Amino acid sequence: MAQDSQAPAKVVSTWSGQAREQAVQRMFTAIAGVYDLNNTLLSFGLHYRWKKIAASLITPVDQGMALDVGAGTADLALLVEPRMGPKGRVIASDLNHAMLSEGLKKVADKGLADKIICLQASAEHLGFADNTFDAVTTGFCMRNVGDLPQAVSEIRRIIKPGGRFICLEFSRPVFGWLRTLYDWYSFTLLPWIGTKVARDSTGVYEYLPASIRTFPDQERLCQILRAAGFQQVEYRNLTGGIVAIHIAVK
Ligand SMILES: C[S@@+](CC[C@H](N)C(=O)[O-])C[C@H]1O[C@@H](n2cnc3c(N)ncnc32)[C@H](O)[C@@H]1O
Repeated sequence: MAQDSQAPAKVVSTWSGQAREQAVQRMFTAIAGVYDLNNTLLSFGLHYRWKKIAASLITPVDQGMALDVGAGTADLALLVEPRMGPKGRVIASDLNHAMLSEGLKKVADKGLADKIICLQASAEHLGFADNTFDAVTTGFCMRNVGDLPQAVSEIRRIIKPGGRFICLEFSRPVFGWLRTLYDWYSFTLLPWIGTKVARDSTGVYEYLPASIRTFPDQERLCQILRAAGFQQVEYRNLTGGIVAIHIAVK
């Protein structure tokens, strides 16, 4: 696994391609050690519930293979593992070494290192053979990838025919009042917490709301999934659409 040696740098929202990937890498390297705690505080503990619902949408199999893309600290991979059966396997893949290392500690603590394999890989180039996985999940990763249609096509390629892709991601709140409240929280309160309380120097608290606003909304993401060849594409809003789970079948 390659490690990042560069100092943390501010993440800005106008980059693309390699510069974007490097900036995302530096940001997650800098926050990996506090990621779980921050996630729980900033989502008021809701992130774990969202992940549980996403994992419950995977059809249980006897001896299955699942992939969690952008697995980070492995929460979702840990929830998917029981659904792959006693002899099943889960690959927890992520671009970032530091996030995966945190994930690996959790996996090892639970005695699951032989069932959940942590692998450093980009969502756009996963490197598995066609039709390998019974299911692919991803949680809060897709809005970070440089080329979303490429990542979605790559994910479809490696799912077995009939297998499901479950995508958990921030989306567009359905109620006007919730959008106003959420905008105030994410553009005013969140950056304030970041600079004053967490003394953040990576720009993550500005990057987070910006990346959510520029990510396709519920309907647009359905179109991208269909354009990649997925069928039976549907979504489920959680917490008023702050988060959505898209379900797509190969
Ligand atoms: C917000 S974290 C989510 C982690 C975890 N899935 C969760 O729900 O807590 C986003 C993760 O996506 C990873 N990531 C960003 N861009 C990626 C890419 N192009 N390919 C693979 N992983 C990527 C980051 O390194 C980070 O670990």
